[in-house]
Amino acid sequence: MTNNGSGRRVGAEPSRADRGRARTVAITLQITLQPTVAEGASAGRPLPSEHLMPSQNTTSARSRRRVIASGTRTPAASAPSRAAGAQIVDFRAVSKLYTGDVGLDQATFSVDREEFVFLVGSTGSGKSTVMRLLIKELEPTSGTIRVAGRDLSQIARKRVPYYRRNIGVVFQDFKLLPNRTVHDNVAYALQVTGGSRKDIRAKVPDILRLTGLSTKLHNYPDQLSGGEQQRVSIARAFVNHPPLLLADEPTGNLDPETSIDIMRLLYRINRTGTTVLVATHDQAMVDKMRRRVLELSRGRIVRDEAAGLYARDESTREFAHRLRSPSERPASV
Ligand SMILES: Nc1ncnc2c1ncn2[C@@H]1O[C@H](COP(=O)(O)OP(=O)(O)O)[C@@H](O)[C@H]1O
Ligand SMILES: [Mg+2]
Repeated sequence: MTNNGSGRRVGAEPSRADRGRARTVAITLQITLQPTVAEGASAGRPLPSEHLMPSQNTTSARSRRRVIASGTRTPAASAPSRAAGAQIVDFRAVSKLYTGDVGLDQATFSVDREEFVFLVGSTGSGKSTVMRLLIKELEPTSGTIRVAGRDLSQIARKRVPYYRRNIGVVFQDFKLLPNRTVHDNVAYALQVTGGSRKDIRAKVPDILRLTGLSTKLHNYPDQLSGGEQQRVSIARAFVNHPPLLLADEPTGNLDPETSIDIMRLLYRINRTGTTVLVATHDQAMVDKMRRRVLELSRGRIVRDEAAGLYARDESTREFAHRLRSPSERPASV
């Protein structure tokens, strides 16, 4: 396949494999976008996005964080229950047993609206299980999961695609369509949920500017660096401004410098009011970020550490500067 220099590819007729990939991505994208008003209205009641949107009246999430000493667990029964309206994610004694493996073991935690939270733990500790439970790709074996106060077990199968549109998802391996440009990868995400051409014209340039991709509009994924590809996937996940963004090892394939750029972008998104949950085992990054950390070990929550002293608001510029500073010491709370 060649590029004719004008940004369009010669011979870009999709192959059977590409069409298969497009289908997979279309399904994946179902979980990244919000319903349009029309869809929401016509389809009964999906999870209304306004339920998930940050409330102006909500007490600052940062003022309500708890610190649980390292190495302790929060028993489900005794965990203080924060004001339900403030919580966007709430796991109560959630277990997920796979055949022969424990995915989650009595995990209890909650995340407030507008928080930026790291989910850490070694490989196999249950991070992706949390993410997959949140998008209802998996069902818990026991326990209750609420998102914006809504018990996920009460959402009927056929309503799940609508629910998922409230959640943006970013993966380690980007999952971009190889035969579509940057612009079209993002536009496609709007198309699959019924976005109009007007929507696309209005939203795509905006999100590409926010993610620093305006000059790469006509590039194909294989003409981009790993960091740029991850930016496209974040643009795609965020184009509809979902109230909750999940990123599962978003910097897993990137070098440290590029990882900082990606974290800066996720931080910028968080500052727009979107709650961000990032699974990672990049301990150095987590130490520098000074955000709340939830740690899993063999499916159990073993640490819930507040951002504490470092909770003050930072501009994204200050944030990036601090992350790059070699003298930065890990947060001690
Ligand atoms: N589909 C599955 N079938 C069986 N076991 C699984 C499946 N998915 C995950 N597991 C197991 O559950 C545990 C947690 O996995 P996972 O949530 O993927 O952890 P992490 O994302 O932290 O690496 C691991 O022991 C893993 O092997
Ligand atoms: Mg994982």
